Parts: sequence; structure tokens; C-alpha cells
Amino acid sequence: MSQIRIGVIGTGSISETHLNAYSQNPNATISAICDLNEDRARQVATKYGASKTYTDYNALLADPDIDAVSICTWNNTHASISIAALKAGKHVLVEKPLCRTVAEALEVQEAVRESGKLLQIGYVRRFDPNVVMLREFADQGEFGDLYYAKASTIRRLGNPGGWFADVERSGGGPLIDIGVHVIDLCWYLMGRPKVKTVSANTYKKLGNRSHIEHLSFYKAADYDASKNTVEDMANALIRFENGASILVDVSYSLHAKQDEGSVKLYGDKGGFEIDPEIAIVTEKYNTILNIQPQTNSEAGFQGEPAFQNEINHFIDCIVKGEQPLSPVEDGVEMMKILCAIYESAAKGEEVHL
Ligand SMILES: NC(=O)c1ccc[n+]([C@@H]2O[C@H](COP(=O)([O-])OP(=O)(O)OC[C@H]3O[C@@H](n4cnc5c(N)ncnc54)[C@H](O)[C@@H]3O)[C@@H](O)[C@H]2O)c1
Repeated sequence: MSQIRIGVIGTGSISETHLNAYSQNPNATISAICDLNEDRARQVATKYGASKTYTDYNALLADPDIDAVSICTWNNTHASISIAALKAGKHVLVEKPLCRTVAEALEVQEAVRESGKLLQIGYVRRFDPNVVMLREFADQGEFGDLYYAKASTIRRLGNPGGWFADVERSGGGPLIDIGVHVIDLCWYLMGRPKVKTVSANTYKKLGNRSHIEHLSFYKAADYDASKNTVEDMANALIRFENGASILVDVSYSLHAKQDEGSVKLYGDKGGFEIDPEIAIVTEKYNTILNIQPQTNSEAGFQGEPAFQNEINHFIDCIVKGEQPLSPVEDGVEMMKILCAIYESAAKGEEVHL
């Protein structure tokens, strides 16, 4: 099986990055499109040359001419669509977060085991060329034992509204939406240690700031600012069984001077920074060295190549029968961390896992 026939479920904002990447992959054919919104599904199908459109994902999954699906829907549907797709014998690329709860994550894990099909989670930052490059340094022991990481994704104005702001459909706010990216990135590069304790806070002070003028921001395809039941911001200290720790803060709304992204990891032989720009820090002959790796983009997330790498990896894993770089087990562990952050914040105390 070298030509993989793809169905894309959910054709809102992020689906375009999947569709563009599939259309560039010589082993992938975009065969079917599904969205609750029929017009949106038809427009996308026409643009990308898909021969079939559906509004019910079960009908797409019953189609024997589909080998694999990308799930780009609201977070509350990730688990149920993934499980149905696996049971229908399809391989799955599911957008982050894997789901909303640990129980859902365990159900998806069970479905992966039972079906023998492949499930890859869309932790796209793992596929950023700069991260691939820095991981090579980490794997070669350049930084020694990575024992501390600090990550931050601050949006002063960035609540995408619609389902993102509805806790029932999203599972949470900036933590589960954008925090998941940077927590996963640090955890993955630190060698995926087992989580031990979490101490966290969430705040709902500013709301979605939809009254703000003169500044634009990322919005759900069906933007609606009238409902907002998610946190504005979250911070957490995550401690692991091996003694390592991650300090993180994330926001949709905050009186910050500007949006800020920062991902920094520290080891006993050296450190490195991914955001706001890549850097390697070490010492030699009693001198501290700040090293600037020379790459195509030294600052910021390289979205286009990262999504292309993610999709190429998914197709390669299917063709070669290999396990993906971001398997379901990583989603289960990440849901434990994210849910423990919400639990700790709700209880106002540290959570032991
Ligand atoms: N990897 C990234 O960097 C990244 C960035 C943005 C969003 N995302 C993730 O992608 C997913 C979608 O986000 P978005 O920004 O595209 O949202 P969106 O609201 O723009 O689009 C979601 C689409 O899914 C459709 N949909 C919802 N439930 C459906 C169902 N049961 N069957 C068929 N269609 C359904 C909606 O009609 C809508 O068109 C989310 O899980 C989000 O976390 C990932």
C-alpha cells in the first residue's frame, strides 16, 4: 500500500495546514472531506480535488476507499472520532490535545491496541526543523541531564471564541489549547519523564477582551464571543519522578505589554532555547559560550515545514508500518499533566499522581 487515501474530518482553520501538506505528499491522495457545515466541506473538497464530501463522520468512516483520517474537529469529539476511526480500520492523525480527560485518553489507547492501527497526535512543534536539529544535540548528550525547563505562551488578546471558549467542547482554555504545545515540547525533549506532582493556578479575571479594537487575533471558524467559560490564564510547576521540573505559564487574556513565547531547557552540561529564538548555551575552557546555530529560521516556530514534516511522517509510518514519533501513550501522559493542572488549581493545593 503506497498510495494512502485520506479523509479530513473538520475543515475549519487548522485543516488547511493538513490539506496543503497532504497535497504536497506524493504518497497521499485527499479522497474525502467531512464537516458539520456542508458548504464548508464542499468548498474545501473542490479546492483540494476530493471526490466525496460528508457531514456525518460515520459515513466517511464506513467508506472502504479511505485508509487514514486527519481529525481537525473540536476537542470534545477527538476521542469519539478517533475510536470510531480505529474501529473502522483507519489510521488516525488527531489534532492536539488528544482529548479532554484522562479517561478518554485511556479509551483511545485501548482502541489503538485493539485495532492494531496507527494513531499519531498532532504535536506539530516536535516536527519543527529547529526542534529536530536541537533534539539531535540533546540525544547526543550535548546538554547532559535536562533537569529544568521553562515555557511560556502569553497572548494578551487571543481567546479564539466559539467552541474554544466553551469548556464543554474544548476541555479548557489556553492551557489545553496552546499550553499543551510547549509543555509537550519540553517534556518530549527532557526524555518523557513520569509526572509526580503538579501545583497550579488558573485565573478568570479579564474574560475574552472582545471589546478590544485595533488588534486582530486567531479566531475559530465560527467565531462567537458571547460565551466564555474557560480560564484566562494558567501557571504551573510540574515535578517529575526523576527530579526534573517544568515551570509554565500561558494566557488568552492578560495585561501583558506584548504577546510572548519562550521555551528554554537547562541541563547539567548545557542549555538551549527554542523560543523566542534558537540558541545553545554551554561552557568550554572556563568560558561561557552562547552559540547561535545557523538555520533557515533562527526565530520563531516554522509552521509550514513543521506541518509538512508531521504529515510526511504520518504517511511514512503508514507505508512502512512504523510507530509514530508522537504515539497515543504520550497523549495519555500529557492528559494526566493537563488534568492535574486543572485539578490543582481547582483545589488550591498540590496534586500527587
Ligand atoms: N496544531 C496546531 O497548531 C493547531 C492550531 C489550531 C487548532 N488546532 C486544533 O485543531 C482542532 C480544530 O481547530 P480549528 O482552529 O480548526 O477550529 P475551527 O473551529 O476553526 O474548525 C473546526 C471545524 O470542525 C468542524 N466540526 C466540529 N465537530 C465536527 C464533527 N463532529 N464532524 C465534522 N466536523 C466537525 C466544525 O464545523 C469546524 O468547521 C482543535 O482540536 C484545535 O486544538 C491545532
